[in-house]
Amino acid sequence: MIELKNISKGFENVQVINDVSSVMKPGQCNLIIGSSGSGKTVLMKCMVGLFLPDAGEVLYDGHDFIKMNDEEKKEIRTQIGMLFQGSALFDSLTVEQNVMFPLEMFTKWNYKKKLERVNEVLERVELKGTNKKFPSEVSGGMKKRVGIARAVVLNPKYLFCDEPNSGLDPLTSMIIDKLIMEITKEFKITTIVNTHDMNSVMEMGDSILYMHQGEKEWEGNNKEIIFSKNDKLNDFIFASEFLKDAKDMRMLEETGKIPNERDMSELTHKDADPLIDPD
Ligand SMILES: Nc1ncnc2c1ncn2[C@@H]1O[C@H](COP(=O)(O)OP(=O)(O)OP(=O)(O)O)[C@@H](O)[C@H]1O
Ligand SMILES: [Mg+2]
Repeated sequence: MIELKNISKGFENVQVINDVSSVMKPGQCNLIIGSSGSGKTVLMKCMVGLFLPDAGEVLYDGHDFIKMNDEEKKEIRTQIGMLFQGSALFDSLTVEQNVMFPLEMFTKWNYKKKLERVNEVLERVELKGTNKKFPSEVSGGMKKRVGIARAVVLNPKYLFCDEPNSGLDPLTSMIIDKLIMEITKEFKITTIVNTHDMNSVMEMGDSILYMHQGEKEWEGNNKEIIFSKNDKLNDFIFASEFLKDAKDMRMLEETGKIPNERDMSELTHKDADPLIDPD
């Protein structure tokens, strides 16, 4: 479990993250959503120690990462897997060498043992037999899967994915989401996913933290988001008419009630519990 307590971070007097608190639980996908520039990546970087927050605590199973000594931080880092925005594979290394990289960094295993583990994770992400290919020789979706294989090769307790779907078509995006969800549940990983992909929100949103201009604006899950009356969240997530209709249809399914005009106007105001039929 990861707990964020009152995290703030600014750059040269510009406040980018403002007093954000949240809890990210194991065995589930914890989403951080929000429009471009809302602070998702900065918050994630504060969590993994790439940025030092100006204030607040990042607790890994109760231990404050910021106050840890170098040895303790290194230990936590071996438990963290990270899928960077854009995969960030080493172009000059093969798929096998990319996935093996964390094992070279953090273990003293011999080559045979490392290769066994690499093949195990490549098989898990359905990339068996691609060992000798270079990143330039595989598709965007395959690159993401290599990135996921590399992120989980050390068997992490915590997995961070920054925009895992960026640049992928909707079907490939769903395959990547499904893979992240399966791995999360299978190995009880505390997974944090930054996204602004609507499909991901509805499919993976066990827990959703919505950021707006560096602040936590809303928190809930993919069931509750359908009933949210938070203006900013609704404008962000159900931006198109098509998605507004889809939201109404889902509400109808869940409540058996067609939202009337009053409900519709309330929909755009504040948070609220699911609509309850007054009768
Ligand atoms: N190293 C930095 N120095 C100064 N400002 C920064 C730095 N990194 C990020 N910022 C600023 O912090 C704000 C939040 O950026 P961030 O990258 O977290 O947004 P984001 O929500 O991840 O957006 P996107 O969806 O486009 O990835 C932006 O205004 C950005 O310019
Ligand atoms: Mg980002």
